[in-house]
Formats: sequence, C-alpha cells, structure tokens
Amino acid sequence: MQDASTTFDLAADNYNQQLQQGLTLSGESADFFVQGRLSYLAELLRARAAEVKTVLDFGCGVGNAAPALRSLLGASHVAGLDCSHASIQCARQRFPESCYQWSADSNSIPDTSFDLVHTSGVFHHIPLAERDDALSDIYGWLRPGGRFAFFENNPWNPGTRLVMSRIPFDRDAICLSMLESRRRLRKAGFVLEAVRSMFFFPKALGFLRWMERPLGYSPLGAQYLILCRKPMKSLDE
Ligand SMILES: C[S@@+](CC[C@H](N)C(=O)[O-])C[C@H]1O[C@@H](n2cnc3c(N)ncnc32)[C@H](O)[C@@H]1O
Repeated sequence: MQDASTTFDLAADNYNQQLQQGLTLSGESADFFVQGRLSYLAELLRARAAEVKTVLDFGCGVGNAAPALRSLLGASHVAGLDCSHASIQCARQRFPESCYQWSADSNSIPDTSFDLVHTSGVFHHIPLAERDDALSDIYGWLRPGGRFAFFENNPWNPGTRLVMSRIPFDRDAICLSMLESRRRLRKAGFVLEAVRSMFFFPKALGFLRWMERPLGYSPLGAQYLILCRKPMKSLDE
C-alpha cells in the first residue's frame, strides 16, 4: 500500500476532480459537504459557547475547508497541516492570504496553541498502528479546554462505500467505525461531547432532508462527527 504522502502528492493537481468522481452519485458538490459539515459543527460549538479564533486543519489537503472554517466558525487564523507537500503547495497558491498558514512539517506546529483542531476524511488514510500517535499530537496542539472536531466517513453506510470505491485516492483507505473512533479518542485523553451522523439523503431525495437533524443521533449517515474537548487540567484531572 502506497503511503498517504505519495498518494496525495500524485493526486494534488486534480484532487477535486477525483473527489467529484465519487460525489457525483450524491448529486452534490464537494463544497456542499464542506458547508454541511461546518455548519453542523458551528451549531454544536455555539450551543457550548465555545470561542474559536485559531484553528488547525489537520490533513488539510488542498485547503478546501479553509474559507468555511473562517466564515462559518468565525476563526481569524487557520493553519493547515498535511503530509503531502504537493497538496500544501496547491493550498498555498489557492489561499495565499495572511490569515492562512500552510505547512507539511508537523514540527512547525506549536504545542497548546489552538482553540480547535478540525480533521475531515484523514484518519482512514493513516495506518492503524499510527492512528493513536496522530491523536496524541492533536491533543498536544490544543490549548486546555480546546475542541477537536473529528469528521470521518461511515463504513456502516453502503453509499459511503460506493462513493469511496469510485475515488482513486480512497480505494486503499481503511475506514474507522464510530466505535473505533470513540475508543481511540477516549484513549488519547479527550472528553467526548457529541457524536452525530450526517448526509442521509442524496440530492434527488432532498425533500427528506428536514429529517437530517433528528436522524443525526443514529449511526447510519454517510459521515459522522465526534466533537471532543481537551480537559482543563484543574477541572477535569
Ligand atoms: C481525503 S484527503 C482530505 C483532505 C481535506 N481534509 C478535505 O476534506 O478536503 C486526506 C488528506 O489527509 C492527508 N494525510 C493523511 N495522513 C496524514 C498524516 N499522518 N498527517 C497529515 N496529513 C495526512 C493526506 O495527505 C490528504 O491530503
């Protein structure tokens, strides 16, 4: 199996076209999913009165989530980290503004510096034996009380499997069930605050989307979010 940096270096120039090859089945664009994920996250953060000024996008790819991390969450500074140099180069060209900082070097990320770490569709590309270490790094980059928004594809949803099989860079991925993700996040020291599923209906069944929020408590959506918190030492330890 190719490592993620090679896979995504090769895919960087046409990452969004490859992604769209799979997403076409849903009738929606990649941006529809970015907006859907981050507006759901914004609701959950607002309900917790969580202040988010600085965000790290772990596995940011070519930077697709960056503008919405600012516009929907109100972040003033977004740092993107990715193991693929070519993807980081693309992100830097697409979003050169000073509110964004792009890096392929995890050592450049200072400890306890972020209000929120966001990750989407990254952990299924990380080998099983390296997943706990990646979560420990993320834990270290958050300030005490900071949040971690962990978005993943749901292997229990047949539509997700079908979409992934059509995307060249997703074919070797090993999905994480919600159970695996919850276990690993707890082991890394996070307090789990909310677990939600999303994206139940393709565009053709859009008239049913009013049911998305109530269904969010079931484990069957195409993707899921686990929102967690790094404990404040004095309160939680
Ligand atoms: C499917 S893409 C998702 C990109 C972006 N989050 C998005 O939603 O458009 C997965 C990304 O994770 C990155 N990645 C995989 N393993 C990583 C690791 N251990 N550290 C940093 N980035 C990683 C890949 O290089 C790739 O850009």
